Formats: sequence, structure tokens, C-alpha cells
Amino acid sequence: MTTSRIKAIIKINLCSIARVWADLRGGDGTLKVGIVTRNKDGWCSTQLQEAMKKRNVTPLCFSFPQLLARVKYTPEASVGKANVLKDLSALITRPIGRGSLEEIIFRMDILHRLERLGMLIINPPLAIERSADKYCALTLLEEHGLPVPRTAVTESPEEALKVFHELGGDIVVKPLFGSRGAGSTRISDPEIARRVFRTVSFYHGVLYLQEFIPHGSSDIRAFVIGDRVVASMHRVAETWKTNVSLGAKPMPCKLGRELENLAVRATGVIGCRVAGVDVLEGPAGPVIVELNSQPGWRGLQSVTEVNIADEIIEYVLSELRAW
Ligand SMILES: Nc1ncnc2c1ncn2[C@@H]1O[C@H](COP(=O)(O)OP(=O)(O)O)[C@@H](O)[C@H]1O
Ligand SMILES: [Mg+2]
Repeated sequence: MTTSRIKAIIKINLCSIARVWADLRGGDGTLKVGIVTRNKDGWCSTQLQEAMKKRNVTPLCFSFPQLLARVKYTPEASVGKANVLKDLSALITRPIGRGSLEEIIFRMDILHRLERLGMLIINPPLAIERSADKYCALTLLEEHGLPVPRTAVTESPEEALKVFHELGGDIVVKPLFGSRGAGSTRISDPEIARRVFRTVSFYHGVLYLQEFIPHGSSDIRAFVIGDRVVASMHRVAETWKTNVSLGAKPMPCKLGRELENLAVRATGVIGCRVAGVDVLEGPAGPVIVELNSQPGWRGLQSVTEVNIADEIIEYVLSELRAW
């Protein structure tokens, strides 16, 4: 190939990169990134907005109930006058929020549609679905050889009682879609187990039972962005639940290579770009109890020098360049 031909190809490629980058910018020349959040003044959303402004990116915050979706006419999704696809370059999902089954499914449907139409969504909707469902997430982690606790799931209170004994008579019962430690209970008495299982089943709950991992009232939260752990902490509690939202204290910690790899691999298996991975250090080694696709980081930020919102926005921008 002649030198002039090589130069021409390089020129064409550079022009198309510049065009794509220009297309990503709104009419006024600034890049706009959406944050779908139930509270735009929440701490994490505010941090993200500040991180964007530092980089000359304009944030557009809105909540799911403000979205209007259209089929067979355009815009396919809008928020007030904003055309989500045309005006925004990417969308960051902060908590999907509480809602009826219909509301949650509709929210996920919109995210899937936007993604199919070519929008960068962080986290991708499939990853949000996989991680929100603790059974689904754990099966994927196990299938990829990652360490997880012995867990059983059933709709039957009778089967659950058998499992209670199988799991050593000391278990944690969790809601399949729970978060912040809410609704999780540790049970070591068969009579209480029987009663709890019947009650959960009466209200059509699914029984998600896990062996209790003795962890000395602390665990690890690894915050993964892309393919690296950007920050981590020990969460030290006074009880067996180590959620910061329940009062556990964040303590700085630097993970070894092995734990970092574990957290990054788990994030990749679920398909998240940003994740909070919860790891318990049990007698048989570390186990992943869950992976959060919309982790908060206020507690973690208090014990790390790294500005986590900056890292997230830098990551979004780098992904946009490659999108
Ligand atoms: N199998 C377990 N054994 C011991 N402690 C557990 C177990 N599972 C969860 N925990 C404790 O409960 C907390 C909450 O559980 P988790 O599975 O992370 O659900 P979520 O945070 O979504 O409510 C964990 O951070 C951990 O401290
Ligand atoms: Mg958790």
C-alpha cells in the first residue's frame, strides 16, 4: 500500500471519529448526559452532576415517571421538551426505585428500548435485572466459578424447612429483590423457621435461604468501575448485617490482587460497568453475597481519596469515545 493511501485512510478515520464526537454533542456544543434518578438532589446524584460540570458536560436529571415513551412516532422517549435519544449522549441509572411490578417492568422496557436504539446506558438494563434478582445473580456467579454461599430457593415452606437443616440450621432468609439489609433475617430455631417460611409463603414470597457465613460483623464492599476496583472499604457493624444504611461504619481497606480480581470478574459476569460487590470473609475463604448494580458511595467516599463520581464520569466519557 502506498504512503498516500495509508495517509488517506488515517484521514478518513480521524474525520469519522470527529464526526461521531460532534454528533454526541448537543446543538449548543456541550455534551449532555442524563441521570435517571428518583431524587436529583440526592447525595450521589449531586456528586455526579458536579463531576459532569467540571468536565463541561451538561447533566439532565429526571425521574422515570417524567418519561414519555412513544411507539410508531417520535421522539421514542422524551422528558418535557428533551428528546432522550437525540439530546443525550448517555444515560446513567441511579436507583430504578420502588414501584409496582408494572412500573418496574415499564422502566426496564424503556431502558432496553433506548439501548436497542443505540444509547449508552450505565448500567445496562440486562445487568440491572440480573443483579436485582439475588438468585439469578448468584447462579451466574456460580456458573462462572466464583465463590458464593450455599443457597436454596423455593416457593414451598415444607421444602424450605428441609433446607434449613441441610444448610446447618443457621441461615439467613432474604427477600429475592431486597436491598440495604431490609427484610433479611437470621434464623437458627426450627420453630421460628417454620413460622417465618409459612408467613412468607402465605404472602406469595419466594424463600431465598442461605447458609450463615460467620464473618465477625464486618465485610468488604468493592466498588468496581469498568475493569478495576477504584475503591474499597471494610464495613464494620455491631450485628451480622453490615449495611452502611443500617449503621455499619466504613473503614478504609486496600484489597489484595485476588479479591480485586474476584470483584472485577463478578462485575463482568453480571454485565455491570459500575458495581458494588459485597464480599464476606468466611472460614473457607471469601464469598460474594451480592452484587449491586446501583450502589451508593457516600460511606465509601468518606474513607477514600479517590473521587468516585469523577471516576464514574471519566468512565462514561471514555466509553462514549469508544461507543
Ligand atoms: N449468608 C450470610 N451470612 C452472613 N451474613 C450475611 C449473609 N448474607 C448477607 N449477610 C449480611 O447481610 C448484609 C445484607 O445482605 P445482602 O445479601 O448484601 O443483601 P442487601 O444488602 O441487598 O440487603 C450483608 O452485607 C452481610 O453483612
Ligand atoms: Mg448488600
